[in-house]
Amino acid sequence: MKIAVTGKGGVGKTTVCSLLAKALKAAGHDVVAIDCDPDSNLAACMGYPQADELKPLVALKDLIEEKMGVKPGTTGGMFRLNPFVEDIPDRYAVDIDGVRVLVAGAIKKGGAGCYCPENALIRALIAHLLVDGKTDLILDMEAGVEHLSRGTVRTVDALIVVVDPSLRAVETAVRIRELAGQLGLKQILAIGNKIRSEKDSRFLVESLSGWEFAGFLPYDDTLRDAEMSGRSVSDGAGRETGAAVVRITDNLAARSATQQSK
Ligand SMILES: Nc1ncnc2c1ncn2[C@@H]1O[C@H](COP(=O)(O)OP(=O)(O)O)[C@@H](O)[C@H]1O
Ligand SMILES: [Mg+2]
Repeated sequence: MKIAVTGKGGVGKTTVCSLLAKALKAAGHDVVAIDCDPDSNLAACMGYPQADELKPLVALKDLIEEKMGVKPGTTGGMFRLNPFVEDIPDRYAVDIDGVRVLVAGAIKKGGAGCYCPENALIRALIAHLLVDGKTDLILDMEAGVEHLSRGTVRTVDALIVVVDPSLRAVETAVRIRELAGQLGLKQILAIGNKIRSEKDSRFLVESLSGWEFAGFLPYDDTLRDAEMSGRSVSDGAGRETGAAVVRITDNLAARSATQQSK
């Protein structure tokens, strides 16, 4: 299963990634999760104690030079288009309850920065993991689709746009779907998060008419408590949340199976 998670800041992308990663691991899958948000906190959210000490891949100058053949920050020059990236998870991922977690770091946007060796390395790594049949991949992204390229979007089983019951989250979701559509990405699903009532889910379903929902997660105080005390969110998840996560992974697996049989 290859899943990219996006949405407005604060809606719960990282929480959803942590919950999905641990659920897939519990179902016996080999899971790699990549934190692609410049404001990275996936490892912390999953309960990794020294998360602050994890250096993002884009900051590993020797690695960039080794893989790309040029120093980081080089623009316009020639660097490898197909670097060998298969060893990166083994060398740099931290193991959090059996899930391998990588911190990518901030991808540069706009102008020549888009073509820098750091971005190219992260894209190559993601492209490799997207086609690697042995592992499930979860990407914790910002509110955008910058980490995906036209060439790799076909292999994403689902771009999940997390929305909480707010107009802002909905507006961001609509914008993301437009961008994803331009890349040719069609498997776009929403997850409604922080749902307190029937009214909340109805608001989302009505505001995002025509969208497919992978599921809904309740507003869960124990999740917030876990976050505030630095415990793993998935250990903090309440029973209702746990059941909702299983429904979502079952939904995604069923979709992925029908897509593959097409
Ligand atoms: N279902 C939920 N119930 C209660 N709090 C939640 C829920 N999902 C996320 N949160 C809280 O919302 C805040 C933002 O979540 P986070 O996953 O970091 O969002 P994002 O990655 O989209 O910025 C965190 O404090 C988190 O604990
Ligand atoms: Mg986040």
